[in-house]
Amino acid sequence: MSRKVLVLAGDGIGPEVMHQVFRVAEWFAKHREMAFDLSNGLIGGAALDAHGVPMTDETLADAVAADAVLLGAVGGPKWDAVDFSLRPEAALLALRQNLAVFANLRPAIVFPALASASTLKTEVIEGLDLMIVRELTGGIYFGQPRGIETLPDGQRRGVNTQVYTTSEIQRVAAVAFELAEKRAKRVCSVEKANVMESGRLWREEVTALHAQRFGHIELTHMYADNCAMQLVRNPKQFDVIVTDNLFGDMLSDEAAMLTGSLGMLPSASLGAADTSGRRRAVYEPVHGSAPDIAGKDMANPIAMLLSFAMMQRYSFGLTDDAELLETAIRNVLAGGMRTSDIMSPGMARVSTSVMGDSIIRELGKLVR
Ligand code: IPM
Ligand code: MG
Repeated sequence: MSRKVLVLAGDGIGPEVMHQVFRVAEWFAKHREMAFDLSNGLIGGAALDAHGVPMTDETLADAVAADAVLLGAVGGPKWDAVDFSLRPEAALLALRQNLAVFANLRPAIVFPALASASTLKTEVIEGLDLMIVRELTGGIYFGQPRGIETLPDGQRRGVNTQVYTTSEIQRVAAVAFELAEKRAKRVCSVEKANVMESGRLWREEVTALHAQRFGHIELTHMYADNCAMQLVRNPKQFDVIVTDNLFGDMLSDEAAMLTGSLGMLPSASLGAADTSGRRRAVYEPVHGSAPDIAGKDMANPIAMLLSFAMMQRYSFGLTDDAELLETAIRNVLAGGMRTSDIMSPGMARVSTSVMGDSIIRELGKLVR
């Protein structure tokens, strides 16, 4: 089985957190004989500076040819003034769309050692294990028409279009139901069916698919505004949430913060399964490029490393290795190591690289 992985570290803290992935991958190659064929490419501002575009056609072709893509983060104030179509974020959207990775899995898991790092009361978030499945290649992010036009009376008008089809809704809902099968068997589908026709269609199509194939899973529906509120009121009521691109963007940031820090949250973006069951996939942390702390060896590498673990699990079926890495991370946190974003009194504040060192050392202990 080939394990061709394209690494796109990107901008800001992307390269620093990705460096820890290279170290961990090296450890797995050496100690578990699980080598990945890693190659590097540029994306975002880094590509814009080097080539004048945020992603070249060659890089896109490399991504299409790879078994998986590992992505750091894109964007930063340096590129704020560039044209919309050339923004670093445009490369991320183009990558998602061209690879057709329509299902974005964003797990929000509260590590026991970090329960007190959340801004919410410990009893509200302790033991939280929720999965947001965000539709990633449709909706208002890509809908036509879009643009800014000038009206005859001189006013300007900005337009974006929220649009979904039956198949777009059903394929992402199927991923959510299938995930729920291996979890607590509950799916909450989130939209604004009270205001938006696309939301009404969403609800009808999810309901139809549920009746057809997933009657053994409990399905509930919730309006997105209520979901935002329920996530801070009682997040443990949820098992799997499935929602559209824009609501998923917002609700996943909210869910991330329940866990204490955006620096802890990985994600997997998956396409349709081919005949051999493999899916196109992009793995990336939910956090951004954090330009304010870039280059300071301060960033939390855990979201990036957990994204690597998701790659081991979902792209390569290396469940034991994924669990090994997740356990090493959990143990290091239990031992009191904290990067600045998750620091709390009495804990040891460490740098990005020392966090990486500690996780690698812990991996060594676990296999001994
Ligand atoms: C995310 C990010 C992106 C998005 C941005 C950087 C384009 O916020 O992955 O959640 O909106 O999808
Ligand atoms: Mg976002």
